[in-house]
Amino acid sequence: MRDEKRLLKERFTTYFWGKMVEFGSLLEISAWDFVLLSILAVLVYRWWKRQNTPDVERPVVPKIPPTEMMDLTIEELLKYNGTTDPHIFFALNGTIFDVTRGANFYGPDGPYGALAGHDATRSLATMDTKAVKTEWDNCDDLTPSERDSANEWEASFKFKYPTVGKLVKSQEEKKDYEGKIAGINM
Ligand code: HEM
Repeated sequence: MRDEKRLLKERFTTYFWGKMVEFGSLLEISAWDFVLLSILAVLVYRWWKRQNTPDVERPVVPKIPPTEMMDLTIEELLKYNGTTDPHIFFALNGTIFDVTRGANFYGPDGPYGALAGHDATRSLATMDTKAVKTEWDNCDDLTPSERDSANEWEASFKFKYPTVGKLVKSQEEKKDYEGKIAGINM
């Protein structure tokens, strides 16, 4: 029984290989060329199929367009918390950063969501997420090491997030950025 199976297998292989040689000689190519061409055809077909199959598993994340540069008062800044407005801004040392791309950190469910839409200077200086205020904060009571901490955060955010503008007092004049898009200022 076992021998019969082996014989059958051998006969099939010989027949298959013979047919391929026959087909190959029709096209004036060797059997090995034929095998390689078949593999190539299968790969091309699989690639083509993948390109034409809608990707149902990858969710479409709406892209939040970059914002124009602007100066904001502390009250105006509140809106940019990722909920009222999809953009997330916060101020640090008087500079407003667009931290939307850090939504994992600063989004409503993020660990530092409390900073969104706020002046984050005191919070980052003291490493306390609760130290955010909704009114103007001079931060002049910060210790030198807390100041250093805020300055270090500012230096790293400058490389990571676009600068939107300045945090201004309500009576202060706002700069006209003439529609310039917020970008990373290094
Ligand atoms: C148990 C306490 C904490 C742990 C374990 C922790 C851990 C981390 C980790 C792992 C990162 C990511 C670093 C990276 O991307 O390379 C991070 C980033 C950060 N953390 Fe914390 N953190 C803690 C507390 C705080 C507190 C209290 C604050 C203050 C508000 C804070 C503010 C930040 C900020 C601003 C970032 C940078 C996010 C960005 O790149 O935009 N963290 N933290």
